[in-house]
Amino acid sequence: MKIVATKDELESLLGPQRAKGNSIGFVPTMGALHKGHISLVNLSIAENDITVCSIFVNPTQFNDPADLKRYPRPVDSDRQMLENAGCDILFIPSIEEMYLDNDYTLLNEDFGILDKVMEGQSRPGHFAGMITIVNKLFNAVKPHKAYFGNKDFQQLTIVKYFVKKHNLPLTIRECPISRDDDGLAMSSRNRLLSPEERKAATLIPNTLFSVKKTWGTAKISDLKKFVLDEFAKEPILKLDYFEVVNFDTLISVTEPILPEMPIIACIATFAGKIRLIDNIRLQ
Ligand code: PAF
Repeated sequence: MKIVATKDELESLLGPQRAKGNSIGFVPTMGALHKGHISLVNLSIAENDITVCSIFVNPTQFNDPADLKRYPRPVDSDRQMLENAGCDILFIPSIEEMYLDNDYTLLNEDFGILDKVMEGQSRPGHFAGMITIVNKLFNAVKPHKAYFGNKDFQQLTIVKYFVKKHNLPLTIRECPISRDDDGLAMSSRNRLLSPEERKAATLIPNTLFSVKKTWGTAKISDLKKFVLDEFAKEPILKLDYFEVVNFDTLISVTEPILPEMPIIACIATFAGKIRLIDNIRLQ
């Protein structure tokens, strides 16, 4: 695996590949890699001639400076995991490389409600920072396909919208949520949980699985009450939101439910200071 820190070095490796007609798959990450990330890398390797993974903890998408400070950065084990997976190129730029001259100007995109609900409401500015860095990374890598996990469902929706709106010449590949054996969605933030918080956090997937089981027989208001009651019983977790939304538009779903409507339930909670999100497709 080649490791590069600048866009010029990256282009010196990728330019000749593009000229040969080789396809480039791209997995953008903030590091602290887990099996979920590696499943994206594996898919990229299976679908492309060259796979590039980036590790960049993007300061502009953290609305809470303490969250940025505590974000895990296990660079050596990340490198080893990518090497073992068979990744071809690791792009690991500095802050200055991505935000030249300390210019933190963000893209000012109109996403309608996509960036205003759920995470958008709870983490102001997060999506502007996210899409700014994703756009910079797309410009640097110029991939044919880019791989995003479904755990960050709202991020994925916004990236897909951005690519479509600007006619970017790449395909976004949506990848399923990877879960640990106890159901908890894999996340870089899980390693920050205490053993008690980690155990309590299994309430998140378990509640989503119960919601899915009763979907079609219970009213949405009853489902919301059920989720609120479940979290009220668990003092270690604080529910931020539970929403049932249209999968494409993120508009809150109200009865009557049409069978052809794509619907997803999304949840965000805090375990102490650590924010955890998850979701489940209902229909
Ligand atoms: O999902 C992430 O890890 C980040 O939001 C991304 C896409 C790498 C942009 O910083």
